[in-house]
Formats: sequence, C-alpha cells, structure tokens
Amino acid sequence: TLADQVRIIEVGPRDGLQNEKTSIPVETKIELINRLARTGLTTIEAGSFVHPKWVPQMAASDKVLESILKSPPASQLPITYQWLLPNSKGLDNYFKVMNTSASAPDGYPTPPPSPKMDEGPALNTSSRDPNAMPGTTSGVESMSTSQTGNNQRHEVSIFMAATESFSKKNTNCSIQESLDRFRPLMAESRKQGYAVRAYISVALGCPFEGAVDPHKVAEIAADLMEMGADEISVADTTGMGTAPVTKKLLQTLKEAGIRNEDMAMHFHDTFGQALINTMVSLDHGIRAFDSAVGGLGGCPYSPGATGNVATEDLVYSLHSLGADTGVDLDEVSRIGEWITGEIGKGNSSSAGKATLAR
Ligand code: HMG
Ligand code: MG
Repeated sequence: TLADQVRIIEVGPRDGLQNEKTSIPVETKIELINRLARTGLTTIEAGSFVHPKWVPQMAASDKVLESILKSPPASQLPITYQWLLPNSKGLDNYFKVMNTSASAPDGYPTPPPSPKMDEGPALNTSSRDPNAMPGTTSGVESMSTSQTGNNQRHEVSIFMAATESFSKKNTNCSIQESLDRFRPLMAESRKQGYAVRAYISVALGCPFEGAVDPHKVAEIAADLMEMGADEISVADTTGMGTAPVTKKLLQTLKEAGIRNEDMAMHFHDTFGQALINTMVSLDHGIRAFDSAVGGLGGCPYSPGATGNVATEDLVYSLHSLGADTGVDLDEVSRIGEWITGEIGKGNSSSAGKATLAR
C-alpha cells in the first residue's frame, strides 16, 4: 500500500466551471468553494483573471475573491486558494482586489496569523530562493501568513502551452512570448508574497499538432523552474495521454532535473485514461494531483476536451491504495451531485454516484 500523503488540488471552481455555457450565479460559485473548503481539501483553484470575452464564465472571479477575503469559508484547516492568470493585466486585476479587500475592508476581522499556516508550504517550495529567510524554505512562505491574516493563503497560477498552435489559440501568443511575459510576472508575484504555480498545457497531446515532444515539455518546465516557479502542473488538456506516454514524459522530466516534489499532474479524462495515468505517476513518485468535483471541466480552446478526473474518483482510488488525502469522500460526493445538478449536467463521477447510492 501507499502510506504517503497525496495532495489534491481541487480545480472545480475554475477549470470545472469555466467552459459552462450558461452563466452560473456568483453565489453558486461561492457556495461551491465554501462547501469544498469543509471537506478536507486544502488547495482550491477558485477562479481566473483572464479576458472576459475569451472566457465569460470567469468574469466574476473578482467577486469570488472579494467574498473569500471578506467572509472566509468556515474551514477548520488552512486553505490555499489559487488564481489563474495569463499576463500582467490579469495580475494587476488580481492585486487590485487583494490590495483593497485584504488590507482595510469594512469590519473585516484581522486575527493574528494562524500558527497552522507556518507549519509548511502549500506548494512544494524548496530552498531555491536565495533570499529565503533563515529557518524557512523560501522567501514566499515566510511572507505568506501576512497575506490576509486569516486562515487562508492565496497563490497565483500562470499557464502556457507545450505547442505553438495551442499557445496561440489559448493565449494569443507564442511559447517564447509566454516565457517572456512570465519572468517579470513571476518576480512581481513572489515579491508581493504569492507563490506561483505554472501550468504546461497539452503536455501529453495537442488537439492541433497531435503527439507532443516530451523534451519540449521538459525544456519549458526547466525554464519555468529557473524563473522561480514553485510548482509545475503538467497538464493533459486533451486527455490524449496514455500510460506509456505518461511514463515517457515523466522519465524525460526526471532526466531534465525536474523533481517529483516540484510537480503536480493535471489529467483530463476525455479518453478515460486519467486514473491509469495517475497510477503511472504515483509509481513514478508524484504526490500531487489536480481534479475537479463531479468530473467537471474542459478548456474552451481545446475542441472536444471534457472534464478533469473527478475528485471523488481520485480520492476513492487513492484511499484504496492506502494513501492519505484527508478528504471526506462522502461529502465531496454530495457536492459533486449538487453542483452538476445546479448547472444541469450529468454527474460524471462513478465513485461519487456509487458512494451516494450505498
Ligand atoms: P489578447 O487579445 O492578445 O490581449 O488576449 P492583449 O494583451 O492584446 O489585450 C487586448 C485587450 O484585452 C486589452 O484591452 C487588454 O487590457 C485586455 P483594451 O485595451 O483593448 O480595452 N486584457 C485583459 N482583460 C482582462 N484580463 C486580462 C487581460 N489581458 C488583456 N488578463 C489573453 C490575450 C491572454 C488576455 C487572452 O488570450 C485570454 O484571456 N486568454 C485566456 C484563455 C483562457 O482562460 N483559457 C482557459 C484557461 S487555461 C486552461 O483551462 C488549461 C488548464 O486547465 C491546464 C490544462 O488543462 O491544460 C490551466
Ligand atoms: Mg485543465
């Protein structure tokens, strides 16, 4: 059995909802996050600061962030919220909310920093930061408790792609332009005390170019780590990844010096391979996985791509291996059923439905 702790990054409120055509009320998004924050999940990707014309569903992410800051979900555990953004405009919009809502909101309580927040990093940051304070593993962590003074931490997620075609479609720029944008953006985020996660999309297959060279993914990952990324999320946007392709990519990343503890895997389940690829990744030593409650998800610029691996399915299979996720499967299953009902979609989590039926 696998006795290790496995970290789950719940991306339902962002990846899960971004591709839904009918507008979901901001109250529903906030309720989803509030409920998820009480299941034992400790990392939630809560929204994105992208152009509202490109992804209309995420347009109210500023309202979601304001709400989390002003009325934090009643979680017993410290929760890390991640905010996806592609460029400096997105970062500015994010800072605007953080700096107005977090510092002097009306009647906003400012409790002392939670001691729990000092226990460890949310991301797998290691001692790469030359400015790290003694006794901490990075400068970012040492600042993170002062972000909001509450039982929450906020982080930035940036995203780019492993192929030129997908990069152009999703963010209207080349791979090199993405990297050029991210260097100052990452430095600024870290300076302001926010850890940075970096996604590499289409790492296991591209809807426009087909098979993807794992060496290209490794080269991008190395560039992002060198710029100061705290974690790389290696994304199978299209669900084209299979067990051998996943294995080959992980080997190539390892050979390029990317450490397992600096990576998470982000599997979409379009071809039903997400859990198989998860097993391959666990075997390789990866201990962080992205998933979305109810199996929601999809990228608007990846034709035909469907949901992320369902959190319920991931939790169920991790528990079967003896891994510790800290997540309450029953409660996550209820949330999956509720949110898919709210948006009028079938619940695509097998383990979620079976859990509720027993
Ligand atoms: P662009 O048109 O090239 O932007 O879009 P621009 O820099 O030329 O600016 C044009 C206008 O957009 C300007 O306004 C900017 O201010 C504004 P104007 O001066 O004309 O009034 N603008 C923005 N407004 C709000 N927020 C911003 C922003 N940036 C510029 N951040 C851009 C480039 C990147 C903005 C656009 O392509 C975009 O928003 N793309 C986002 C696409 C997206 O969100 N995709 C889904 C998320 S990624 C994903 O799902 C994959 C993932 O799950 C992993 C996986 O599975 O692969 C993470
Ligand atoms: Mg995705």
